[in-house]
Amino acid sequence: MEVKKAWWKEAVVYQIYPRSFCDSNGDGIGDLNGITGKLEYLADLGIDVIWLSPVYKSPNVDNGYDIADYEAIMDEFGTMEDFDRMLEKAHSLGIKIMMDLVVNHTSDQHRWFLEAKKGPDNPYRDYYIWKKPVEGKKYPNNWGASFGAGSVWEWDEASGMFYLHLFAKQMPDLNWANPKVHDEVFGMMTRWLEKGVDGFRMDVINLIAKDPAFPDGAAGSHEFSDFYPVVTNHPNVHVYLQEMYDRVLSHYDTITVGETSNTSTEVAKIYTSETERELNMVFQFDHMGVDNGPHGRWSDRRMDLRDLKKVMSRWQDDLYGQGWNSLYWNNHDQPRVVSRFGNDSDEFREVSAKMLATCLHFMQGTPYIYQGEELGMTNVAFSIDQYEDIDTRDTYYQYVTVEGMPHEEMMRYIHRRSRDNARTPMQWTAGENAGFTTGTPWFLLNPNYTKINAAAQVDDPDSVFAYYKRLIRLRKENPVMVYGKYELLLPEDKDLYVYTRTDEETQLYVVCSFAEKDVQLEIPEEFAGAEVLIANYPEPALDGCVRPYEAFVLKRKL
Ligand code: GLC
Ligand code: CA
Repeated sequence: MEVKKAWWKEAVVYQIYPRSFCDSNGDGIGDLNGITGKLEYLADLGIDVIWLSPVYKSPNVDNGYDIADYEAIMDEFGTMEDFDRMLEKAHSLGIKIMMDLVVNHTSDQHRWFLEAKKGPDNPYRDYYIWKKPVEGKKYPNNWGASFGAGSVWEWDEASGMFYLHLFAKQMPDLNWANPKVHDEVFGMMTRWLEKGVDGFRMDVINLIAKDPAFPDGAAGSHEFSDFYPVVTNHPNVHVYLQEMYDRVLSHYDTITVGETSNTSTEVAKIYTSETERELNMVFQFDHMGVDNGPHGRWSDRRMDLRDLKKVMSRWQDDLYGQGWNSLYWNNHDQPRVVSRFGNDSDEFREVSAKMLATCLHFMQGTPYIYQGEELGMTNVAFSIDQYEDIDTRDTYYQYVTVEGMPHEEMMRYIHRRSRDNARTPMQWTAGENAGFTTGTPWFLLNPNYTKINAAAQVDDPDSVFAYYKRLIRLRKENPVMVYGKYELLLPEDKDLYVYTRTDEETQLYVVCSFAEKDVQLEIPEEFAGAEVLIANYPEPALDGCVRPYEAFVLKRKL
C-alpha cells in the first residue's frame, strides 16, 4: 500500500503551554515574549511546528480554554504586536505555528454570550444552546458536566431557561446547528490564517455537533450520566468539518489535528482520510486509558504493557495507508510520561525517558513533544490546596467531600494522574525558580529543577535533550520512520515492546524494554551485524540480554 507523502507527516510538533513556559517580565506568568526568547532553543532541538495552547483573551477559569475573544491576546501574555514578532521570528527559524482552536464553547464573558443572556430575542441568543424546563424533570436531560459533578445545564433566572455547558458553567457550548456560528468561526480562522499562522489544533472537536433530541445518557450509580458516549462523533461533525475544509482550510497549506477522545479507528479514518477532506490527523485517547481503574482515569494503577501494545498496534495497523494519527505520550492534560509509563527514580529516569521517546518516535504518525518532555521532566506530589487545575480541584471536591472517598486515596490518584503534573513551570536552569521567572511563579515548581533543567542538558551529548534531538534528526534522514509499515513482534511479552518498520529498501528493528530488570531477547538473524541507528545505553545489548529500560534500533537494507 502507498502512503501519500505530506510535509505534516514528516514534521515533529512541540506543544507550548504558554502560562508555564517562560516569563519575560517578572509577573510570574509565562508570556509571548518569553516564547520568542526561547525559539532558538526549539530550533536547536529541531522541531518543525509549535502547537500553542490558547493565548486568547480569557478569564482563565480553565487556563485559556475559556475564550472571551478569539481575536485578542490575553493581557497577561502580551499584545498582538508581541504575537506578530513571535510568529515572524518562528518563521525565520523555519518553525510553523499551530493555534489552538476552541470552538465547542466560549467563555461566559465572550461578547456573544453576554448578548445572548439578554434574552430570547437577542440576535446572539441562538449562538448558544438554551432549553426550557421539562415537566417533572430537574434538568432537560441527565448529562453531567466534565468539570465539577453537576448537570451540564445551568439555570438562567432572567429568561427562565437553561443553557448547555459540557465543561465548566463558565464555558457555555456554542450552537453549531446555527449557520451564523459557522460564519463567525470560519471568518475568525481565515483572519488568523491571513495573518500567517500555519494551522489549528482543534479542542474537543468531536463534541461540537449535538443530537437535536438531546437524549439521556445511560444511567449509572451517579445522579448524572457521562455525556461523552452520547455526544461524541455525531454524524454532523463530519458535515461541519467538511464545510470548514471547503470554506477555510482548503485555501491554505495548513496542519490540522483534532482532539477526539472516545473515537474508534473506523471513525478516525473518516476524519483523516485524504478523500473526506476534514482533518490531517487526530489525537486519539485509547492509550491514555491503559492505566485507568474503577474510577476511570482517577487511578493509581500501573499499566500492563500488553494492553499498551495492543492499543498502539491497533492504531498503527488500522490507519496504515488510510488515515493519519498523531503520536503523543504527554500534553497539558496528562501526567508526565516518565513517571507514568517509565521510572522517575534517580537511577532510571534518564534511560527510561529515552526508551519512551524511542518507542514513540519510531512509530507511524506525527510525533508531538510536550514542553519539558525533552528534558525528562517528572510528576509532582503537592498537597490538595496547592493544586490550581479546575478539574483536579472539582474532582477532589466531588469524590472526597461529597462522596466520601478517603483523602489519602484521592491524593494517590491526583499525584499520578492530575493535569497539573504537566503544568508546573518549565525547568530552564538550576537557578532561582528554574529560570522560569524573576518574580513569583503563578504555580509551584517541581523541586527537582535543580537537577533536571535545560541548561544542564543542551550541551551534554548524553542528555535526554540530546537524545530527542537525535530522534528528530533521524526522522528527517530515514523516510522509513515516517512511511514504513509497522509490525508488532512478541505481542504477549510483558516487558519488551518490539516492532519493525519496513519500506521497499529498509527495515528497522525497534526494541524497548519497559522492565526494571534484565530480559532475554532473541534478535532475528537477519539483523546480525545491522547498523545501530540509536541506543540509550553506550553499547546496545546485541547479545540478547536487554538491560533495564534499554532501547535500541537496528537498521538493515533490504
Ligand atoms: C480539551 C483541553 C482541556 C480543556 C478542555 C475544555 O480537552 O485539552 O485542557 O480543559 O478541552 O476546553
Ligand atoms: Ca509574564
